[in-house]
Amino acid sequence: MAVQNPRASILRARVLHTPRDPFSDEAALDCHENGAVAFQDGEIIATGDFAEVSGRHPDADVIDERDAFLLPGLVDTHVHWPQLGVIGAMGLELLDWLRTRTLPEEVKLADLGYARPLARDFIHGLAANGTTTALVFGTHFPEAQDVFFEAAAESGLRIASGLVVSDRDLLPELRTTAAEAHDAALSLGRRWHGHGRLRYAVTPRFSISCSEEMLDSCGAVAAELDGSLVTSHLNENRDEVEAVLDLFEEADDYLATYERHGLVGPATVMAHNVHATDDELARMASAGTSVAHCPSSNGFLGSGIFPMRRHLDTRVGFGLGTDVGAGTGLSVLKEGLLAYLGQMVVSDPIRLTPAHLLWLATRAGAQVLGLGDTVGDLSPGRAADMLLLRAPEGSTLAATLARVESPDHALGALITLAREDSVAGTWVAGERVYPRM
Ligand code: GUN
Ligand code: ZN
Repeated sequence: MAVQNPRASILRARVLHTPRDPFSDEAALDCHENGAVAFQDGEIIATGDFAEVSGRHPDADVIDERDAFLLPGLVDTHVHWPQLGVIGAMGLELLDWLRTRTLPEEVKLADLGYARPLARDFIHGLAANGTTTALVFGTHFPEAQDVFFEAAAESGLRIASGLVVSDRDLLPELRTTAAEAHDAALSLGRRWHGHGRLRYAVTPRFSISCSEEMLDSCGAVAAELDGSLVTSHLNENRDEVEAVLDLFEEADDYLATYERHGLVGPATVMAHNVHATDDELARMASAGTSVAHCPSSNGFLGSGIFPMRRHLDTRVGFGLGTDVGAGTGLSVLKEGLLAYLGQMVVSDPIRLTPAHLLWLATRAGAQVLGLGDTVGDLSPGRAADMLLLRAPEGSTLAATLARVESPDHALGALITLAREDSVAGTWVAGERVYPRM
């Protein structure tokens, strides 16, 4: 799908990216105030000051956006496409929120007439928020999930997703059997895994809604689809953790319910992990399993504050997830702001910098999704996945940016204030995916 353009293109803008990890390297943020990124055939070939980049590629087409900011495309490590219609369902904790608002909404996807425009709106929403890569929690209905993959393929975005499977609890319409789930998931996986920029993600909803047999069938699908991801929910809410331990009498903790079915490995991304035990963190670190940290969702459902320091100390990788519809929108930049706020108010605060938050929104997410060699920063050799931000005229962001004194301050202002209306363009592999030309 790489753009076969014999000529290079140069995007001239104020370039900000984090090719190095700010949790271990103080000089993580690279900025080029009068900067540029050159790209060709979908790949970045030069990044730096405009004069130098254009000098090296004098024949390139120049897209002049010198007043706007160019960042790597954002990475959303956890978001549910069927839940666009329940954003803002207030006043409920996880299990009641699922039962009263979210699962009834998800049942509607049995109707393809409902699912098809929803899939398109969701995909559009990702690109319109500057997200170029996402691990997307799917639907329980195979036909609707097929429709979603079609829309994702058409968009050009880097999407991993899969059929959500459950055989207990939930509403009867959302349940299936382990054998049916296995066959439906495998058939979707064979069709879409590796198609363009799509990958398959084996997706048991959570242990409450999956019998041992169902989790076993998920392990079998993961083993059959080489390079697939596994994703689910873990340690989100105290009542949820208690219910899991009641259901799985032999499991010492929540993680164990997935572990014994081969679902905890380097290609696994678990959402939340707010109430993790030390032992679970140690086992996740040694398995190379990562976490999707979803700060707006954790606040919205009253789940708790993510123990970031314990994840850092145990070296369990994490990126950011919007977790729509418990999350408050599709902006990964906003998740950065909310991660910042959460870590400022804990008893042992972490004072995250703009560079930390950009890292979490881009490169950390890419690593979590196994794409660290491909995307996440604007270094030569990476895919040209980029986000152009421009403050709307008359906006608070414009007023703030007119007064900031350094690129670091500008980045802090962008994370705090830039939302959908500031996204001027989104590119995947050098191809403009938003707005479509
Ligand atoms: N656990 C199981 N299903 C869900 C869901 O849809 N959202 C969240 N936040 N947690 C879940
Ligand atoms: Zn979720």
